[in-house]
Amino acid sequence: MDDFVFQNPTRIYFGKSHEAELGRIASQYGSRMLLHFGGQSAERSGLLPLIRKELAAAGLTCFELGGVQPNPRLSLVYRGIELCRQNNIELVLAVGGGSVIDSAKAIAAGAPYSGDVWDFYTGKAVPEKALPVGTVLTIPAAGSESSPGSVITKEEGLLKRAVNADCLFPRFSILNPARCFTLPPAQIANGVTDIMCHLMERYFTNSRPVEFTDRLIEATLRTVIAAAPRVLANPASYDDWAELMWAGTIAHNNLLDTGRKGDWASHDIEHELSALYDIAHGAGLAIVTPAWMKYVLKHDLARFAQYAVRVWGVEDNYFDPERIARAGIARLEAFWSSVGQKVRLSEIGIDDSRFAEMARKCTDDDTQTVGHFVPLRSRDIEAIYRLAL
Ligand code: NZQ
Ligand code: ZN
Repeated sequence: MDDFVFQNPTRIYFGKSHEAELGRIASQYGSRMLLHFGGQSAERSGLLPLIRKELAAAGLTCFELGGVQPNPRLSLVYRGIELCRQNNIELVLAVGGGSVIDSAKAIAAGAPYSGDVWDFYTGKAVPEKALPVGTVLTIPAAGSESSPGSVITKEEGLLKRAVNADCLFPRFSILNPARCFTLPPAQIANGVTDIMCHLMERYFTNSRPVEFTDRLIEATLRTVIAAAPRVLANPASYDDWAELMWAGTIAHNNLLDTGRKGDWASHDIEHELSALYDIAHGAGLAIVTPAWMKYVLKHDLARFAQYAVRVWGVEDNYFDPERIARAGIARLEAFWSSVGQKVRLSEIGIDDSRFAEMARKCTDDDTQTVGHFVPLRSRDIEAIYRLAL
């Protein structure tokens, strides 16, 4: 097991009762806040009206910035930074999914920074302080509600880049599984896919031995695989959403990284797809991840076979680990297809015309490799896009 330091500072308020406490919770951080949200979903569901009421009842002054799009854009982040500076904002409150939360984190880091917030996403600067961020999560998926990460798209050059910093952990997150009842099937599938990928990115590691965290990851994957068809069949199933929502947070709050180094190539390869074609992160992962698996399989057949047996129940065969490993990948693809994902680029109308460009962007013109399990260069990434066709 690798040495590690683990601390996740986000206070989680889980269940049906905590939305009513939002005014009290938020007022611990000040009296002036920016309420940040996406399109219409939180308005339509009644969540935003409820939040406005709670904040007003607690005597808090609330400025609003809506309109965050999936694959959140840098231009809106700049507007949020200006709003924070002009109005002495003390807390950025994100109501929505990963896109809204990531945009809130960017605003929170950008407001006290004298340079361009994009510096944090290019690695030119490291965020050392940020305004406090709180979240009210409406979709289990990205895990941003208790992660130190933020992913933003710069429109100019279509660059989608991530930053990780301790000051970006939300101070608190309110998770009410009942808020997921309004999710359309495609978003459910995207969320389920992303959660599974956060688990699998961590599973495929060269660190040894990591039996305890292997078992935790396998259990979390199996929980998600069981709950997903149930929420698709019955979107108002509170108990199944509760399993999925908590699994989604645990999948990405760094607990399952302890003592091991994950891979993360599939995420980087996917971010190029979302940046160029504006597809949902989960939809892109359902296509990239199986292709990545097929490409790196032989690096550690035993690990892929273990994954197939323990997660998917493939029958073990000591003499033919490659067949077992490939059966695990086939089960993964079949599962994602069963929840409504496409698993090939050609199914979503993407051809090979920009593979070289995406592979170059992903490796910064081959100045860096991508992934830790198997470090990849641009020619490897192009081959993975081809396998995904
Ligand atoms: O905009 P509205 O109308 O609110 O609709 C949203 C949006 O269209 C809708 N939605 C959310 N909650 C809903 C709902 N619709 C009905 N009922 C509800 N309860 O869902 C759509 C997608 O929302 P989005 O926030 O984009 O989804 P997700 O949570 O999957 O976030 C994706 C973003 O997170 C990034 C991704 O790259 C992507 O940009 N990630 C962030 C990470 C992090 N910060 O740690 C890690 C992840 O790996 C990921 O990269
Ligand atoms: Zn993800």
